[in-house]
Amino acid sequence: MQNMLSPDLDPHRLARTLAGRHLIDGALVPAASGRTFPVVNPATREQVSEAAFGEAADVGAAVAAAVEAQKGWARLPARERGKLVAECGRRLTDHVEELGRLVALETGKALRTESRVEASVLADAFVFYGGLAGELKGETVPFNPDMLTMTLREPIGVVGAIIPWNVPMMLMALKIAPAMVAGNAVVVKSAEEAPLAVLRACQIMAQVLPPGVLNILSGFGPECGAPLVTHPKVGKITFTGSVETGKIVYKAAAEKLIPVTLELGGKSPMIVMGDADIGRAVGGAVAGMRFTRQGQSCTAASRIFVHSSIHDDFVARLKAKVDAMVMGDPLDERTDIGTIISDGQFEKVKSYIRIGEQLPGAKANTCSAMPADPKLARGLFVQPVIFTGIGNDSRLARAEIFGPVTCIIKFDEFDKVISEANDSEYGLAATIWTRDLRTALDATRRLEAGFVQVNQNLVVQPNLSYGGVKQSGLGKEASLEAMLEHFTHKKTVIINMQ
Ligand code: NAI
Ligand code: MG
Repeated sequence: MQNMLSPDLDPHRLARTLAGRHLIDGALVPAASGRTFPVVNPATREQVSEAAFGEAADVGAAVAAAVEAQKGWARLPARERGKLVAECGRRLTDHVEELGRLVALETGKALRTESRVEASVLADAFVFYGGLAGELKGETVPFNPDMLTMTLREPIGVVGAIIPWNVPMMLMALKIAPAMVAGNAVVVKSAEEAPLAVLRACQIMAQVLPPGVLNILSGFGPECGAPLVTHPKVGKITFTGSVETGKIVYKAAAEKLIPVTLELGGKSPMIVMGDADIGRAVGGAVAGMRFTRQGQSCTAASRIFVHSSIHDDFVARLKAKVDAMVMGDPLDERTDIGTIISDGQFEKVKSYIRIGEQLPGAKANTCSAMPADPKLARGLFVQPVIFTGIGNDSRLARAEIFGPVTCIIKFDEFDKVISEANDSEYGLAATIWTRDLRTALDATRRLEAGFVQVNQNLVVQPNLSYGGVKQSGLGKEASLEAMLEHFTHKKTVIINMQ
């Protein structure tokens, strides 16, 4: 083991230290071509660093290192692997503040409300999965009394993980921690908008893991993501991102007949019944809509159905709560809400707000206030908007906006609201707010979503299986189930003892 890295709490300096590097075979290396691309702070639009421009040659080098490393890694006793992965989590715990600052700098997510929280969830995921190594069990099967029949859980080999920018560290952790504990080696392709914090996290883990078990490349989808999916030695792809790209990945993987896990978009309904505790439901809407993450969440509660008897009260209270949130410098402790990730996403969100403003009957309730600091004048800040007076069939209620924009839809009847909630191409998450147990249970059975909560709106948890139905994806992440079902092969063995 090498010397421990010490945390660097100056994210600007750290961003420069990590400039232009992949992590391949345990070492920070430049792209084979020497090319880089800029990393921008979305709160100022200034370049803070650059990242290695990954292409097929880099993918080839990373996969070759992973193939070599995986052989020895899979031969380690499972609990030895688990101990090393848990040790990664402990090392990452020492770097929570550093990683929080770095991800705040590159993504514009506020440090206090989002980025620091994400860094601690990252560390926790490795501790959690490290402890599950002893659970990589097969079964014995009562096939024939003279034959011992059993199943073995074996690693797939090399797993390719393609991650997005909204919660890059956490989403990476939920893929690579179970993949590694199961005995796979991993090649991660980070999102072009957020390459640094995940690289730093992998550098920290590389102090603990054998070289080549964990590799990370930065780069764009077509140049770096696509060759990872099509590489003949990559046996599994786990992807989080848009539906559109998910389908491209799925088709490419089909050519090789390899398994794929897809965590895609959402348009998650939140149903507030007339008997709900309004104060709690309003708090749940703020949390569920992820206003502190500028709404950039696949489970964002972006369709809020509110019973007509409490509609006006709910809207007024929600607006007041969001108004009180502070938009500002992501690295400032006072800031609740930071910026949108990129120019492209900024334009997309703004265009949906314009579409909403033109819908007949719609009212755009714009909340909070733009930051006053002149240094942030060019930053990608968008004031949260709560749309009222629109129906579930409007464009705003159909499309995943991935910004701080939610719509409140009035309803009167339970059966009708359940069918409207289900009338979406997505099915990732849903919540229902009521004091009535029968209504709650009925809704949990009828809502078409992978994750349904009653009277709360928590984010994904490492020990709870997570994944969507319909266009929201394929397969599950998090939990023991994800490790067993999605990062191992089940081999059947018969030993004839006659
Ligand atoms: P994207 O799906 O294009 O990007 C996600 C990842 O896929 C990135 O690492 C990207 O480089 C990679 N990628 C892109 N094209 C690829 C290809 N041909 N082969 C392999 N990998 C490829 O998402 P993008 O463009 O960042 O955002 C667009 C929309 O996607 C957002 O507005 C949002 O609606 C949705 N999205 C959903 C996320 C979620 O958490 N489910 C996360 C990020 C975006
Ligand atoms: Mg894209």
